[in-house]
Amino acid sequence: MPASSARYALPAVSETRREELERALLEHRTGFEQRFGSGAGVRLWFSPGRVNLMGAHLDYNGGPVMPTAIDRGTFFALRPRSDHRVRFASTLEPGEFEAALADLPGQPARRWWDYPVGVLRELLAGTELPDVAGFDLLFGGNLPVGAGLSSSASICVGTALAISDTWELGLERLALVQAALAAERGYVGVQCGIMDPYSVGLARSGTLLWLDCKDRSSAWMPLDDRSYAIAVADTLVRRELAQGAFNERVRQCAQAFAELAPHQPGATCLRDIELATLEAQRAQLDPLLASRAEHVVREVGRTFAARDALERGDLPCFGEQMTRAHASLREHFEVSVPELDTLVDSATACAGVLGSRLTGAGFGGCVVVLLRRGAEDELRERLERDFLARFGRAPVVEFFGGDEGPREIRP
Ligand code: GLA
Repeated sequence: MPASSARYALPAVSETRREELERALLEHRTGFEQRFGSGAGVRLWFSPGRVNLMGAHLDYNGGPVMPTAIDRGTFFALRPRSDHRVRFASTLEPGEFEAALADLPGQPARRWWDYPVGVLRELLAGTELPDVAGFDLLFGGNLPVGAGLSSSASICVGTALAISDTWELGLERLALVQAALAAERGYVGVQCGIMDPYSVGLARSGTLLWLDCKDRSSAWMPLDDRSYAIAVADTLVRRELAQGAFNERVRQCAQAFAELAPHQPGATCLRDIELATLEAQRAQLDPLLASRAEHVVREVGRTFAARDALERGDLPCFGEQMTRAHASLREHFEVSVPELDTLVDSATACAGVLGSRLTGAGFGGCVVVLLRRGAEDELRERLERDFLARFGRAPVVEFFGGDEGPREIRP
């Protein structure tokens, strides 16, 4: 397991949040009984979403990232059946999935249940099933979908845990992460990086996860959440074409690496390319690829600088790296939109704010803001006022706590 830093006592999820979550899950159980009928034996799980503070678009380039899990996520209510069938339903999406365990679809249906079906297929491979393995499972939760807060990793890692607990597989967190990753890449067919399932699966409250995506080494870095808060402001912009544009960035980075690699001995991914190498080759490179590579190469430097800043308790310097990252995402990586830029500009003009940038892939979704405690009200007012003046509607501004990761909840 990853190394931990034991320098500080880590604050636990607050009592109020814990009670809110338990209440929400009790309601979810009622929803389950309305959908699948009443009766004993229903168990409940929660799995968080995540927000990434540093290392934008680095995971698929082998670079380091610094995400944290948040106290919003996916709810699961599961009851075993007396046969070998499974049924999935959701309080958030229409449609129901039903199949025999021995006859799961080999191809995704392009529906929301592809994610849990993919996980189920992963766990079934090489598992000796208990005599009665079927179950009904209701999904729900309080994480905005498509906002860049990783609802898909939340659902995949949480499904893996709920099934592991139900079938008594005893899977470790890293095994849950691997099942989630294999399901998304292999079955759903999204060429996602490793950051999302790792940040959900290895979550610890009161910390940022340091994850080096080249060798998958990781560490938990304490963030003093009594002095600092994390805000997330949602533009509510959702781009239909975002997946295509994301895949295009992945391709462009791979191409930039293919052209630069011969000039950087030993390089195995774009993260290994040095700025001097990029500068020396710039004239021969397509300007668009050079721009994408510049974002990646400099973002690696910024992310190491942010880690050093956090280690010495210099949060203003950490925040500065975030805001610089946003400028680069806008200019060099071209994944921002005017709504995100407006939120970052108003946030960074607010006293008490240390830094702000878009989070997730971009093309809409959310910005993340690091601020000093006490500045919350002013930040909210400012973000709402400036956004309303420009776009005629308000963004959704929220202050998330950290989270300790996927777990069974027994209210
Ligand atoms: C999306 C992907 C992540 C990561 C981010 C960009 O959220 O799911 O794996 O690549 O974009 O940092």
